[in-house]
Amino acid sequence: MTTKNAQYRNTLLEYFEEEVMGEIYFRELMYNFSRDDERKKLTLLANVERTTAEILHPIIDRYGLIPRSDAELEPLAAQWTEQRKHLNWQGLMQGMVTEYPVYVDLFKKFETQAPQRDIPALKRLTAHEIALVDFAKLEIAGNPDSLMPIHDFLGISFPTE
Ligand SMILES: [Fe+2]
Repeated sequence: MTTKNAQYRNTLLEYFEEEVMGEIYFRELMYNFSRDDERKKLTLLANVERTTAEILHPIIDRYGLIPRSDAELEPLAAQWTEQRKHLNWQGLMQGMVTEYPVYVDLFKKFETQAPQRDIPALKRLTAHEIALVDFAKLEIAGNPDSLMPIHDFLGISFPTE
């Protein structure tokens, strides 16, 4: 395996683990929010993360990469939650709009380094991040259809309310 390949696979594993942690993170955040609508939204965001991890899983398996266990990843995800526990809903959304576009760029760049057959899954990785950013922007704007990008990503064609 060339260094370039090794680097690609390490990054892939890192991105996979971050999605697993992302699901835990959004679920843990539910303890910080008491409004039903906010908690429902966090559940959907957690589903986006889980779905993304599931999309990447076959590639991880194909390369024989072994992710850390949930038990190992949970404390790391808990740190993310801890760092944001002071945030109200608007603050959380603002953080997503500020921080997540960096990942959109990273994932787009990563697509260009990928072997052909990994690209469809990596395009979904990019799409999930765009959906999260779009959702947060709509939330900040007070748009009642803020969940549309999330529903689109998850393939839900009807509101879950
Ligand atoms: Fe994610």
